[in-house]
Amino acid sequence: MITDLFDDRSPQQQSLERMGDGAFLLRGLAIPFESDLLRDLANVVAEAPFRHMITPGGFTMSVAMTNCGEAGWITDRTGYRYDRIDPDSGRPWPAMPASFQMVALHASAEAGYPDFVPDACLVNRYEPGARLSLHQDRNERDFANPIVSVSLGLPAIFQFGGPGRADPVKRYPLRHGDVAVWGGPSRLYFHGVPALKDGDHPVLGATRINLTFRGAL
Ligand code: SIN
Ligand code: FE2
Repeated sequence: MITDLFDDRSPQQQSLERMGDGAFLLRGLAIPFESDLLRDLANVVAEAPFRHMITPGGFTMSVAMTNCGEAGWITDRTGYRYDRIDPDSGRPWPAMPASFQMVALHASAEAGYPDFVPDACLVNRYEPGARLSLHQDRNERDFANPIVSVSLGLPAIFQFGGPGRADPVKRYPLRHGDVAVWGGPSRLYFHGVPALKDGDHPVLGATRINLTFRGAL
């Protein structure tokens, strides 16, 4: 399972940290994929620009989002759901780039989910002050699939709780290249990201990008 975490592909130390049952933090795992991911992200965003979606309660999300893959996660006044069509363009979401698939497959295998094949990738863009309140990822069809979450750019705090909204929450710093994977018993655990602190990342400036891979359909 943990085969090549300590190989020499990357200058940044890689390691595996356990966050809970079936939940792991793979530090630095995305570093070897970094330049391919950022190049392919630019193409995705050119086709499907970031937008601030509206929650069913009428609030504008501070995190800007887009998607790639067979389906995309969206929210509007009618609810949360996956849709094969980008509502802003009326066209299908951009295809999931090979580099995205590769980092997701590599991370899920390292975390003990060798059969995961993502069909959707939600791309989150945080600017200073942007936050994602505690929530569960529960719009996917099959909870046998884990969530794979890749962090790029400015560091953030990842809050990882339990099955209940009021369960105690642990805080993990997520840095450029870190990948969080949660599935199995922790698949529906509450998680969130408090307001992003200002900063200047050498590659992404005052931005954090999070790629969240799901088995949605
Ligand atoms: C999410 O829960 O969709 C995003 C988590 C993150 O930004 O790290
Ligand atoms: Fe989430």
